[in-house]
Amino acid sequence: TARLAKALQLTLAVIKPDGVAHPLVLEALHQKILDNSFVIVKCKDLAWKKQDSEKFYVEHAGRFFYQRLVEFMSSGPMRAYVLAREDAVSHWRELMGPTKVFRAIYTSPASLRGQYGLTDTRNTTHGSDSMESARREIGFFFPEFSVEAWMQQDEPAFR
Ligand code: TYD
Ligand code: MG
Repeated sequence: TARLAKALQLTLAVIKPDGVAHPLVLEALHQKILDNSFVIVKCKDLAWKKQDSEKFYVEHAGRFFYQRLVEFMSSGPMRAYVLAREDAVSHWRELMGPTKVFRAIYTSPASLRGQYGLTDTRNTTHGSDSMESARREIGFFFPEFSVEAWMQQDEPAFR
């Protein structure tokens, strides 16, 4: 079990307001998670106020797209997941595809952003870009959840 525990990684995945707004897209994105052997550790629907959006994306403050991003991310309901898998961070990023929609469409047409992305801002999904940001972002969305405690469980429920 020690070996298994080490191989597991957590990531934060979010279906952004454009994805949640379209029931078929929401269903397809959820199915993608199930089809890729992620364990859904936590899942919740929520909506942000503008201040939540500004705080979450503070690393982008000042960039040309920041205001647009902040407005969009607080424009409607979202769905957030804590996902567990081997290489969860990179695997979810790979499934999402590139940030920019033109790149997603041309280089990764089968990716989530390639299939469902509308614009560079309305690009359907978020995923943590490192284990370090996963930890911060999971804490942001699920403050009651302890990554440390989960990782240290002897027998996670799904094993
Ligand atoms: P970023 O962290 O660079 O991308 P990713 O979501 O792939 O980690 O940017 C965060 C979000 O900011 C991105 O998902 C959508 C928005 N954004 C734009 O609207 N325009 C842009 O040119 C970029 C780079 C990002
Ligand atoms: Mg990012």
